[in-house]
Amino acid sequence: MDKQNIVIAIDGYSSCGKSTVAKALAKCLNYVYIDSGAMYRAVTLYFIQNDVNYTQTDQVEQALENIHIEIISEDGTNNYLLNGKDVTAEIREMKVSELVSEISTIRAVRESMVSQQRRMSADKNIVMDGRDIGTAVFPDADVKIFMTADLNVRAERRLKELQNAGAVISIEEVIKNLTHRDHQDTTRQESPLTKAKDAIMLDTSSMNEQEQLDFVVNETKKATKSSC
Ligand code: DC
Repeated sequence: MDKQNIVIAIDGYSSCGKSTVAKALAKCLNYVYIDSGAMYRAVTLYFIQNDVNYTQTDQVEQALENIHIEIISEDGTNNYLLNGKDVTAEIREMKVSELVSEISTIRAVRESMVSQQRRMSADKNIVMDGRDIGTAVFPDADVKIFMTADLNVRAERRLKELQNAGAVISIEEVIKNLTHRDHQDTTRQESPLTKAKDAIMLDTSSMNEQEQLDFVVNETKKATKSSC
């Protein structure tokens, strides 16, 4: 793979603050932020809306041909379009969260997402977050961060996000969903969530957002000389 641009890969468990720190890092470096999880969520939403039987390879392959995902970056926020329709809010709903890890285990889905993700870095510096960015999508990334945090801390953060979006949900349901996704993400056959050997560990359990940003800015500066 030709590599001319800077790639910062941020992987880790669900709801440990990856997207917040990745977004802030991209903003301060003036890089493009790509939330790879949003792409898997958009595919999942399409499968739900179109009753795709995801256990049938031919249906999955046919669906993937009909899925067009666009990321529109404006004023530091990303909007996600699925076949031209803005699905930014809908892809965060529980109906998608409950199925997305399952859909992400499908090889054809991963192959399609990974090739789109690689194309996205072709002509720009990027910060991409996800589960397999430093291990499978960009094994030569300039900076690799692996994020984790205590399950209860993650659940509290996720609950707040969902409640802010108007959802009525209990902490127990959030813990159940996170535990299920952790299990599926780490045990799947296709590029499971795991720390790349050369990734730097970042445990955010007792760090605020500024401390997390300072940490990644510092690591980026050491590895690439880029600075905010
Ligand atoms: O980052 P997130 O929680 O929005 O991601 C949703 C799901 O997508 C997550 O449970 C696993 C999957 N995912 C993946 O398999 N690979 C990625 N690079 C990003 C997300």
